[in-house]
Amino acid sequence: MSKYQSVRGTRDLLPAQKKIFRAIEAIAYENSINYGFGQIETPIFEFSDVFHRAMGETSDAVSKETYTFEDRGGEKITLRPEGTAGAVRAYVSEGLAQNNPNKLYYYGPMFRYERPQKGRYRQFYQFGVEVLGLDNPLADVECIDLAYTILKKLNLETRCELQINTLGDAESRNSYREALVQFLTPLRSQLSEDSKVRLEKNPLRILDSKDENDKKLIANAPAMADFMTENTKVFFKTVLDGLTKLNIPFKVNPKLVRGLDYYCHTVFEFVTTELGAQGALLAGGRYDGLVETLGGAKTPGVGWASGVDRLADLCAGHLVIENKKPVSIITNSTETLELALVIASKLRNQNHYCEVFMNGNIGRKTEKSKKLNSYFCLQILSDQTNTLVNFGIFNFSNNVTIHNTIAKDRIFTKNIAGNIIVDEDIVNINSIVQKVINEIDVA
Ligand code: HAM
Repeated sequence: MSKYQSVRGTRDLLPAQKKIFRAIEAIAYENSINYGFGQIETPIFEFSDVFHRAMGETSDAVSKETYTFEDRGGEKITLRPEGTAGAVRAYVSEGLAQNNPNKLYYYGPMFRYERPQKGRYRQFYQFGVEVLGLDNPLADVECIDLAYTILKKLNLETRCELQINTLGDAESRNSYREALVQFLTPLRSQLSEDSKVRLEKNPLRILDSKDENDKKLIANAPAMADFMTENTKVFFKTVLDGLTKLNIPFKVNPKLVRGLDYYCHTVFEFVTTELGAQGALLAGGRYDGLVETLGGAKTPGVGWASGVDRLADLCAGHLVIENKKPVSIITNSTETLELALVIASKLRNQNHYCEVFMNGNIGRKTEKSKKLNSYFCLQILSDQTNTLVNFGIFNFSNNVTIHNTIAKDRIFTKNIAGNIIVDEDIVNINSIVQKVINEIDVA
């Protein structure tokens, strides 16, 4: 075993896996553009306060999971555990409010000190969207529709379920919080340690407890739905009706509260049963108070984020990724290899994928080019006397070299400034490249 391993909970994304990540990201980005989003990239670290204030001191993500450190200037810095806080910080500090509504898309790594397991990493990747400046419940519907469209494009929409709930407006939440505290206070001694703390600071989060005994205790708690104001009910109904009109299946889950403190009204998660305990593929909701919390004017917001690591696990083997086909060039000497690199560079500059093999014998190189599903290979082979014995296109489908396609039985001495000298003639490499491109076009 090598002395240095990647840090627990982090991993190397090797080319085959990274290809899946890129394909997912491309689908997410393209569809976000179709829905009118523009990409934003905020720094990977922010002043710790940004996350502490935005996500709430009692959220697990802040109280237990942040990577926080003091930099050399004595500033308290946190690696971002999610994208919403940074996007909202940028919205305020960059003065984006004057262009409201803002529809922002982002992609990048996030960091949480969680217990690593399948689908849960300490460095993981999210793409997400945030809509700032729209209080219309149909903005929630449009966001969810984008999420559903992306999941459809990934062929995952039938492998997960949209669960949705409302946390209501401030008035609904306050009266529910009061009722919940009244119900749980006599049971305090039976609650888990985490839930005892939450009872003081953020009782709603107790509904989200993973502790089995907590779960039993809250089974009989008052129902959130009974405390919703008329406004909240109308808001939620508009969201659900909108989803129905768009044929997006959903299930109302009255216990869904989400782990971060900034939510109000709509909260939702697309959940799968295929990844064990880490079932949430994409999650989000409305956060009408967050901009104010981070020092901006009162501004409604709604959005979601999706865990790319989890999507990739589900997509592996299913996602059809178009692989670009190469032209392979097979050579057998330093001189022919040098010439191959000149030709390859010209093809690559015209946006063709070209493979030049630098080791192995001709047989192995041919095998490799077949394995890569090459259009064909260009063979540039010389003998001991630097005589070109084969300079043609080898076609896999009929197993023949189109001899003399370019030049054969000629001695070449050197290549200069894009031209090779074969015998005394100057062979124009551009015309060779053009011949290869013509063959690609008919292949
Ligand atoms: P979240 O539920 O904390 O929400 O994370 C969103 C998604 O990120 C999860 O559903 C999951 O797919 C993925 N995820 C979270 N933690 C991990 C992990 N440790 N390893 C792998 N994947 C993970 C948010 O982050 C909110 N900012 C979403 C949002 C945006 N709400 C409004 N706007």
